[in-house]
Amino acid sequence: MRSDLLSRRALLAATAAAILIHPARAETRPMRIGIIGAGNIGGTLGGLWVKAGHEVMLSSRHPEDLKGLVDGLGPKARAGTPSEAIAFGDVLLIAVPYKAYPQLAQDYANAWKGKVVIDAGNATQARDGDVYGEVLANGIAAVSAKYLAGARVVRAFNAANYKLFARNAHREGGRMAIPIAGDDADALASAGQLVRDAGFDPVTVGPLAKSESFAMGSPGFGLDLTAPELSARLGVAR
Ligand SMILES: NC(=O)c1ccc[n+]([C@@H]2O[C@H](COP(=O)([O-])OP(=O)(O)OC[C@H]3O[C@@H](n4cnc5c(N)ncnc54)[C@H](OP(=O)(O)O)[C@@H]3O)[C@@H](O)[C@H]2O)c1
Repeated sequence: MRSDLLSRRALLAATAAAILIHPARAETRPMRIGIIGAGNIGGTLGGLWVKAGHEVMLSSRHPEDLKGLVDGLGPKARAGTPSEAIAFGDVLLIAVPYKAYPQLAQDYANAWKGKVVIDAGNATQARDGDVYGEVLANGIAAVSAKYLAGARVVRAFNAANYKLFARNAHREGGRMAIPIAGDDADALASAGQLVRDAGFDPVTVGPLAKSESFAMGSPGFGLDLTAPELSARLGVAR
């Protein structure tokens, strides 16, 4: 299991290095982004944000294993513990298996209070145990709001596979749309900008509860559409 994770980290380091071959296109003032979970999603988005000129701290419970990944990303990337990444980031990305949310809530709720938190997590039966049951009963928007209480939560990057994000970032001829949802207007603006900087077009579907419209298993999940197409599919006014 652990060697599997390590070999995926080597693959991510190679992907991250490939992302950096393309010229940077910073579109906004650089932000400091703390990433909790440096696997498929955290590693891919971290690489795209470094490419856009942001300062990124990638974290996991084993930060020493992240050296290859951050070295591949260059000087704007660094590795740390989750607690260091939370302190570092103006904006945080949560990219850990959903079963870790109760533990994160217990350990870090005070640390992320008031921060913009982009929640990329999805719950699956095979991986996430009891929390999956909670999501089935209450919906993932409510469960994320509960475990990420105190943060200004925006759900984003939940609705497609990380390989699609890596392949489609900054694509020519109609960017891939990323549905986002949250209750705080400023947090939605920051998250939307980071979606753009990663090479996609955000489609704001509404308050956090509306993230159910692109949750795993919903009709809005797994789509590779442009923003006008996704807006029409989800009934979002533009
Ligand atoms: N994979 C996708 O295509 C995809 C797409 C959309 C959304 N998502 C969602 O995004 C989340 C991450 O998925 P992933 O595929 O990127 O997972 P992953 O590749 O397995 O990576 C998970 C990362 O989280 C860290 N981690 C695990 N438990 C932790 C804890 N308690 N505290 C801090 N860090 C912890 C792991 O490192 P350590 O074990 O070293 O701590 C690892 O860096 C999941 O909720 C998933 O459903 C995934």
